[in-house]
Amino acid sequence: MEAAAAAAAAKSVCVTGANGFIASQLVKLLLSRGHYVVRGTVRDPGASKNAHLEALESAGERLQLVKADLLDYDSIASAVTSCEGVFHVASPVPSGRSSNPEEEVMGPAVIGTTNVLKACNEAKVRRVVVVSSIAAVSNNPKWPKGKAFDEDSWSDEEYCRKNQDWYYVSKTLAEREAFSYAAKTGLDVVTICPSLVIGPLTQSTVNASSKILINYFKGEPETVENRLRNLVDVRDVADALLLAYEKSEASGRYICSSHTIKVSDMINILKTLYPTYPYPKNFVEVEDKTAYSSEKLQKLGWTFRPIEETLRGSVESYKAFGILN
Ligand SMILES: NC(=O)c1ccc[n+]([C@@H]2O[C@H](COP(=O)([O-])OP(=O)(O)OC[C@H]3O[C@@H](n4cnc5c(N)ncnc54)[C@H](OP(=O)(O)O)[C@@H]3O)[C@@H](O)[C@H]2O)c1
Repeated sequence: MEAAAAAAAAKSVCVTGANGFIASQLVKLLLSRGHYVVRGTVRDPGASKNAHLEALESAGERLQLVKADLLDYDSIASAVTSCEGVFHVASPVPSGRSSNPEEEVMGPAVIGTTNVLKACNEAKVRRVVVVSSIAAVSNNPKWPKGKAFDEDSWSDEEYCRKNQDWYYVSKTLAEREAFSYAAKTGLDVVTICPSLVIGPLTQSTVNASSKILINYFKGEPETVENRLRNLVDVRDVADALLLAYEKSEASGRYICSSHTIKVSDMINILKTLYPTYPYPKNFVEVEDKTAYSSEKLQKLGWTFRPIEETLRGSVESYKAFGILN
């Protein structure tokens, strides 16, 4: 295709929080497709933590990084102007407890989502894919014990507040806001609710969910609860986001989780693949039957990698970035 024809056929999409773990993988996937022009929002375009994005294949021709803060409506509105689609990925993902959750977590998540949706509605964006989380699904005391969580389950806001699970509150309120805004305006909104996301880092900084896996290589903590971990590969999450965008029949929310595995079983796989690390030594057995169904997403055409590939991909990227030294 000639350059002019290629430019005419290109579709402009915006990815919020482009330098994050999931968003970086999504930007990489979009660029690899060849027909997307990507506008990625970052808070500090000059920062070295964006360098990996500029180094992606085709970034020079088809990636533009723009400065935007979720709490600054005008910056978001200008980022989504003339975009056909928007992937709203940015949201605070704290590693520990926040001292000021309203300001640090809830505000950017909820007001940020409202700002993105309002800007998309005004810009007549065709579809917005919002990254929610199983945090908006699983804290639901009314859900039948032992039944895999599906899209009908919503976390109970009051229950999350009582437990001071602020991240859960932020994701629940943000996703509810997304659907209520869609119902009011007719904006086409689809949400994806991933479980714990691991897999290869594209960026050189370590995000909160990758830290959980990285700590196992340091043998931290030495004693761990032998819970069930519900996991998904970051590359499979990026695939799910693109699928939700491209498939016209996609609608509502989609749980995106591929493996349910006990911590001890996961560590045994890691020990087989990479025997030289210290790893946690003791496991405390706990009653945990938490599992999720991604059947709705699979029916849309989603497939996922085997867990060994995810663990290997994660570790090889940590080694490449010197994180395990
Ligand atoms: N990782 C998981 O296990 C997991 C699971 C389920 C759902 N999710 C969801 O997936 C999304 C991405 O998570 P991630 O794991 O990729 O996290 P991440 O690497 O920490 O990325 C978070 C992104 O959000 C941006 N951000 C935070 N506050 C912002 C604000 N006020 N204005 C603009 N940007 C802001 C950050 O920008 P800065 O670099 O400027 O801070 C960063 O780009 C989030 O919505 C998260 O809730 C993650």
